[in-house]
Amino acid sequence: LKHFLSINGLSRALLTEILDTAESFANMGEQAVKKVPLLRGKTIVNLFFENSTRTRATFELAAKRLSADVLNLDIKTSSAAKGETLMDTLQNIEAMHADMFVVRHADSGAAHFIASQVTPRVAIINAGDGRHAHPTQAMLDMFTIRRHKGGFEGLKVAIVGDILHSRVARSQIRALHTLGVEEVRLVAPKTLLPIGVEDLGVKLFTRMEEGIRDVDVVIMLRLQKERMSGALLPSESEFYRLYGLTTEKLAYAHPEAIVMHPGPINRGVEIESAVADGSRSVILQQVGYGIATRMAVMSMAMSGQMQERAQIQ
Ligand code: CP
Repeated sequence: LKHFLSINGLSRALLTEILDTAESFANMGEQAVKKVPLLRGKTIVNLFFENSTRTRATFELAAKRLSADVLNLDIKTSSAAKGETLMDTLQNIEAMHADMFVVRHADSGAAHFIASQVTPRVAIINAGDGRHAHPTQAMLDMFTIRRHKGGFEGLKVAIVGDILHSRVARSQIRALHTLGVEEVRLVAPKTLLPIGVEDLGVKLFTRMEEGIRDVDVVIMLRLQKERMSGALLPSESEFYRLYGLTTEKLAYAHPEAIVMHPGPINRGVEIESAVADGSRSVILQQVGYGIATRMAVMSMAMSGQMQERAQIQ
């Protein structure tokens, strides 16, 4: 690993190595000693061109627990507001001897573009680009499933809601298939499914009750209004009636099914509070696992980058 831009093309062995490494960090985080010196002397820059709570905070905590120096560039108050281009901003941060950029951007492909432009000694981690990919979210979700279900074999997983605009769903589908679950189902109105989705090897359902019947994992998604045009905006009350996860609808899933959501959640739109806060919900555990998973990705990417640098020298 050097950059971590998407799940596409990564092997089951590599994804498992990330999960195993995250497991060791998670076990450590549950002890009194939370810090390791793996990235001491390294500089990690969080570049969030789009809003974030969970991803940005857990990347920062993960970097600090790896003993890196962390810079959170506040894009809203940066000189980007004075017209400085993305590339000029990046070149100036590179000049401060940064070793890694963690990038979130509203444009699909932004992380790949940055990786193709910066000097080879900087590792790029994609923290979510447009509707394209959110690979560290997918890995923390896989970590959550493995922790709560013991593995992936034989599992049926339903992803419900706004698939069309979801970078999380795209990365999850790849990771779930690579790790060998039995079945990935997508449950959504036709207007919120991308064209060509059948090619992803998933089962499609438009009725929630059928889509989540007997599944082991229900992953709910938010309506991503920031990526919708007016014509696509569904009525929230109608969406909740048909696709909102209520206690009543959850009864169709396996009795031991877990409920996941990448956050932020919209209560009463895609999920009922009684379910979000209920005993089957692992939504807050997902957030916590984000620290260990991101520690794993950052330490493995930095180690891959150091090996590459050694080969060039
Ligand atoms: N899941 C997720 O990406 O949340 P944030 O937008 O708060 O980072």
